[in-house]
Amino acid sequence: MARNASILIIDDEEIMREILETLLSREGYSVRVVSSGAEGVELARSIPFDAAIVDVMMPGMDGMAVLEQLKKLDDELPVIMITAFASVENAIAAMKRGALDYITKPFKNDEVLVVIRNAVERRQLIEENISLKQNLQAQTHNFAGIIGRSPKMKQVFDLIIQAAPARSTILITGESGTGKELVARAIHTHSSRPDKAFVTVNSGNLPPELLESTLFGHVKGAFTGAVYPKKGLCDMADKGTIFFDEIGNIPLETQAKLLRVIQEREFMRLGGMETIKVDVRIIAATNCDLKQMMEAGRFREDLYYRLHVINIYLPPLRQRKEDIPVLALHFLVKYGEENNKRALELAPEALDLLMDYHWPGNVRELENVMERAVVLATGPRIGTDLIPDHVRTAPAFQIPKFVVPPEGISFKDVITNVEKRLIESTLEAAGGVQKRAAELLGIKPTTLNEMIKRYDIGVRRGRKGSVAGDDEESASAADMRDETLKST
Ligand SMILES: Nc1ncnc2c1ncn2[C@@H]1O[C@H](COP(=O)(O)OP(=O)(O)OP(=O)(O)O)[C@@H](O)[C@H]1O
Ligand SMILES: [Mg+2]
Repeated sequence: MARNASILIIDDEEIMREILETLLSREGYSVRVVSSGAEGVELARSIPFDAAIVDVMMPGMDGMAVLEQLKKLDDELPVIMITAFASVENAIAAMKRGALDYITKPFKNDEVLVVIRNAVERRQLIEENISLKQNLQAQTHNFAGIIGRSPKMKQVFDLIIQAAPARSTILITGESGTGKELVARAIHTHSSRPDKAFVTVNSGNLPPELLESTLFGHVKGAFTGAVYPKKGLCDMADKGTIFFDEIGNIPLETQAKLLRVIQEREFMRLGGMETIKVDVRIIAATNCDLKQMMEAGRFREDLYYRLHVINIYLPPLRQRKEDIPVLALHFLVKYGEENNKRALELAPEALDLLMDYHWPGNVRELENVMERAVVLATGPRIGTDLIPDHVRTAPAFQIPKFVVPPEGISFKDVITNVEKRLIESTLEAAGGVQKRAAELLGIKPTTLNEMIKRYDIGVRRGRKGSVAGDDEESASAADMRDETLKST
């Protein structure tokens, strides 16, 4: 398929042009070479190419400027930068501006071929993807099993679509439970190798030697107990994707070997001498601050930059509350089916509780809460009673800051006042329904009713602004303080 793809090579060094031209023509690509940026851009203006290889350092129009011009002509053109190993920073900068990948000099032929093949495949996939993407957006809020409707998640979906077809290494960051593994799988599904293996490495707490033998395999006799030679996860992932979950846990010594896999796509077995080649897509995830780890000397700088070429950040659930209703519904259906309780519904008050909670455990925590509710549900409706205590008590209720005047204050009066105000606010929040207000306060309806009578509360109903927003809350807290002080 990639055979007749056309490649533009722009390099001022004659020897590089020759090497690349020979290599790529031999593979069946149709190749055009030029020796300056200006010529390259001119040519690209008149002939469409499937990919371009551009040297970063050139006299006159340099690689970055060429990249910019090429992207102006055709935003989807995959551009691959060539750079000296010492100036990888430039290449990273170029990728930030839209280059697809980079090759460091001196390069290996295979490396170039893999990069080009991916670029061309990506080009073809992008064309298909444009229509795919349009379809997706019109559909439900489900992208490859990832549920979300917030603009932040839409951006994540777009990034997956753009980044998936290339071979570039991807780093997924975000708090625990935000869906990093789900995203890694979605990238694999949308890559040019979806039918190949997806191998997860739980970088977890394995001692370095065991981790390395798991990753790279070992030869017979590599260590005590290595009676038979064994292949590793890197072998299993060949042609597919390897996913390093919690990459921040990988010990420094293993990081060096990993860097070699990323850079050269090769490794050695534990105790072995032979170099083994693999063609893998690498995805890593972490909830650590790798930059901080790097600064503290616990994460290799070169590995950090190699991983950071494309970063997908998953925001915590509390920063994308629009996703809560669709997620809750998704889990309701999912666990409803699993538990044979179809047609369940979530009461609006229960959803309110979910919306108010801050979800430190993110989507995983929401999933657990919904699963529990479904399992415990006895009727068709999931009400507030099925929401666990820690979620329902979490809404940001703030006790006002009391200012005690120098002359002192009557404890009893303050408490009475607080009680009265709290009941009023709760009644407002409960729309005047006493039973619900009692539920919200965790007291018996009869107790509440007694207090309402004692404080003669009913007559004061109908205050403005019945929504208990933050401003409302603090305004009434201030009122209360004023009144408290006055009453002394
Ligand atoms: N957007 C989402 N839509 C549907 N399910 C989700 C979403 N995000 C997370 N989940 C679910 O939440 C759970 C946790 O997700 P996942 O394992 O991908 O999180 P993670 O970021 O890898 O967490 P950790 O850092 O703890 O490993 C999984 O069951 C996953 O299916
Ligand atoms: Mg995970």
